[in-house]
This record gives sequence, structure tokens and C-alpha cells, in this order.
Amino acid sequence: MKVGVFDSGIGGLTVAKSLLEHKLFEEIIYFGDTARVPYGVKDKNTIIRYSLEALEFFKNFEIDLFIAACNTVSSHALDELRANCDFGVVGVIEPGVLALEKKIKDKNANILVIGTKATIAGGLYESYLRQLGYKNITSIATGLFVPVVEEGIRKGEILDALFEHYFGKLKQTKKIDGVILGCTHFPLIADEISKYLNGAAAIHSGEAIVEYLEDAHKADDSFTKTKTSFFASENPNGLKKVAKDWLGDLISNE
Ligand code: DGL
Repeated sequence: MKVGVFDSGIGGLTVAKSLLEHKLFEEIIYFGDTARVPYGVKDKNTIIRYSLEALEFFKNFEIDLFIAACNTVSSHALDELRANCDFGVVGVIEPGVLALEKKIKDKNANILVIGTKATIAGGLYESYLRQLGYKNITSIATGLFVPVVEEGIRKGEILDALFEHYFGKLKQTKKIDGVILGCTHFPLIADEISKYLNGAAAIHSGEAIVEYLEDAHKADDSFTKTKTSFFASENPNGLKKVAKDWLGDLISNE
């Protein structure tokens, strides 16, 4: 099975990593819209337009499934993507919520959702969580984590200052039980976020989508390594370099 993994930039490589680790698919075509990232500060219509343009790119590859690794795209453009292709389209929001439900049974637990401005404004995580009966949900747009992670910062005082800025007040009033990392970049600082929030269980989109897809697409032993190709709308070599750094031996040298 050949899948297309789409993200606004490099962040979706965290989702590709989970797919590769679990050997779910024979081939992955990755496209990051590096020329137009970030999507998280754009409005819904722009996010839809960019996503549909990316979809056209993927139509050149005869993919069987389109994975919107980007939380911002998953929040705003899934219906339009589905209406414009004849292959399956999955996003990361529903899998993330289902993964949280497996970890946190208590519907009175304090849940924190973090993501880009557009993801939080879209409110999709929150509305799925409420449908499942969760009552205590706090959503915070934490967009500054995106450039910080891209800068290679994974711990230390800059991150600590941002934790204080975004979560300081909340931490004084509530013990957070679970945090949905509603942005592709956040898994890279998951441990630090959990630590700051006194051990809150963190939900990672990549792991969540693997769990979601695993039943339908069992890991396949008939191939040794997933074939990967990486494309970007700007500086593809830059994206390939990050892919090598983050994915290491999971990908072959291109
Ligand atoms: N990939 C985006 C997301 O998961 C984060 C970066 C952006 O704002 O485009 O929401």
C-alpha cells in the first residue's frame, strides 16, 4: 500500500516516523509545503486552498491513502480533501482523541489541548472530546513552540520560559491529567511538556494514527523497509536533511 503524508512543513516527519517504526505501509510519499509554512496562523479558506493544492500533487503518485499529518489541516480541510479525491483521507484529530480515551478513562479528568492558533480556534479536538463526555477541557494555542523546535531547541531556559508563559497560571489552578499534543512539532518536546505538567499523559499524533490504522493495515512482513520519497515546495534538500536527522536508519539514503 502506498500512502501520501502531507504536512505544512517538516513537522509531519514525526508522524512519518511512527508510520515507519510500525512498518504499516510499503511506500510513503511525503510532501511538506515548506514554501508556505506555517499554516497555523492562516485562516480556514487559505488552509483549505493550500491543502487542495497539495492533494493535486499527490494525485501524480497513485496513492491509496492520504494522511493529513498536520493538525491544522486536519482541523480545517478534511471534508474538502475527502470531497476531491477517490482515495481514503485520514487526519490526526480523531485518532488523537481516541488514543486519549484509551489512556484516560475518567471523564472528569483535566485535559489540556495544545496546538496552533488555527487548530485551537477550529475547536475540533475540544468538540470530539466533549462528544465522548470529557468535561474539563482547556485549550491553549502554543504556536511559539513551532519555531523553537525547528531551531533545534528541545530543553533549557527558552522552553522553560515558554512553559511558564503558556501553562504557568493553569498549573497553579489544576492538575492536568492528559495533554493532547495537537501539533506535529510537539512530540519532539513531549517529555519536557509532561515533566512541566507534573507527569500529564501526552498524546502524540503519530502514535495515535498508528493505533487508529493498525487494525485495518497490519504491519506487513513481506517487505524489508518502507520505501520513502520526500518532496517540498521549497528547499527540498533542507527537508531531506531533516528527514535524515529525525528518521535515521528508518529511511534509506536517497
Ligand atoms: N504542522 C502544523 C500543525 O501540526 C504546525 C506548523 C504550522 O503552523 O504549519 O498544526
